[in-house]
Amino acid sequence: MLKAVLFDLDGVITDTAKFHFLAWRDLGAELGVTVDEAFNEELKGVSRIDSLERILAFGGLADKYSTAEKEALCTKKNDHYLELIQEMTPADILPGILPLLEELREAGLKAIVTSASKNAPGILELLQVKDYFDGIVDPASVAAGKPAPDIFLAGAELAGAKPAECIGVEDAASGVEAIKAAHIPAIAIGDAEVLAQADRVLADTSDLSLAVLRDTWEKATA
Ligand code: BG6
Ligand code: MG
Repeated sequence: MLKAVLFDLDGVITDTAKFHFLAWRDLGAELGVTVDEAFNEELKGVSRIDSLERILAFGGLADKYSTAEKEALCTKKNDHYLELIQEMTPADILPGILPLLEELREAGLKAIVTSASKNAPGILELLQVKDYFDGIVDPASVAAGKPAPDIFLAGAELAGAKPAECIGVEDAASGVEAIKAAHIPAIAIGDAEVLAQADRVLADTSDLSLAVLRDTWEKATA
């Protein structure tokens, strides 16, 4: 039986993906590295420090900065990101998410946030949706970030469910890879080619519903 839904945040609950992109693009420009939308796809779902490492490697700068300098660059990116998201309100919840959370609550299914973002609790507050969730996995508490399965396995545990009793919702290729590595059925939102590993790809969050989640889960676990 499907017992829990494990939600990515950025690009699933709200469109913060565009703000992460802007903040990385500007930091990249300062470092002399062009972060365009195609390269940004590879940063989705990836932790802050791992994203910086990927940008530096992409620009041939892998060995240029010390650990302390890299931390300072991450802080700079995050300060800019926090400025960009400050004005977020419940109106920024993506279409279909609130009705889905209502449906889950009514049906007694658990909803867990499995985001790589250390900003997730603050964003859920801004969106005023924190109460809909039964738990938020602290990304700092897991050994390896997406595409490793750790955060989704921790999400299942937090829900008190087995991985096979959960379904994960993601917008990033690294996230879908992580869900599948945890042996959890996956629904992806976005480009079907980029997210081909998912059990079902939806063009938009407004296509999400408990019925779609159940149907996908049933087919994936049959
Ligand atoms: C993921 C985003 O959800 O969180 C990534 O898709 C981001 O783009 C990562 O780098 C970490 O987020 P934060 O808020 O901790 O920098
Ligand atoms: Mg995401």
